[in-house]
Amino acid sequence: MSGEGDEPQAIRKLAPGKLVIASHNAGKVREIRDLLGPYGIEPISAADLDLPEPEETGTTFVANAELKALQAADLSGLPALADDSGLCVDALNGDPGIFSARWAGETRDFGLAMSLVNDRLDALEPETGRDAHFVCALALAWPDGHVEWFEGRVDGTLVWPPRGENGFGYDAMFLPDGGGETFGEMDPQAKHAISHRADAFRQMVAAVL
Ligand code: IMP
Repeated sequence: MSGEGDEPQAIRKLAPGKLVIASHNAGKVREIRDLLGPYGIEPISAADLDLPEPEETGTTFVANAELKALQAADLSGLPALADDSGLCVDALNGDPGIFSARWAGETRDFGLAMSLVNDRLDALEPETGRDAHFVCALALAWPDGHVEWFEGRVDGTLVWPPRGENGFGYDAMFLPDGGGETFGEMDPQAKHAISHRADAFRQMVAAVL
């Protein structure tokens, strides 16, 4: 997929070499290093380059990933990769969506964020469905302003109370379709094989490497 105009464009390939990961999250950078290392890509974190974190003013996951990647590419003069992800609940019109991190408040309390989601669902008609999906948008930007983007997704339903201690964020209330364990109960490797992030990375690797 290309971020430029409506015309289908050839997908730009990513040459071996340095790639800025537009994230200050060390865990994310490590995970991406493991994924892309075998392709001759050398990830460097935005924190190592002292790049600022832009305000996420976009109204979609792709727009937010794109603005983070474009800023990092522009400031570093190197290709840059950014992601944006979150939980979308059908009966809540897609909330918390791009505000998934913000629902956890300043203290990043995801017990609170999960309770908020559950309370909002409980306030609806009793027969309301609990379908939800995680989305992960990846944007790969070059210093000349070219962007390629990819969107991964995993579908499931929300359970209450939360189950499991693994993972992070909303994992403990998310039961992926076709499985009996929540993301919070699953072995991390099993989650990584089916997650929205894995889906987006698979698409990106197939397209640009
Ligand atoms: P960001 O993409 O780093 O801004 O993360 C957005 C928020 O979405 C996270 O803080 C989590 O609350 C939520 N989220 C994204 N991916 C996952 C996941 O794999 N499991 C649980 N929560 C997630």
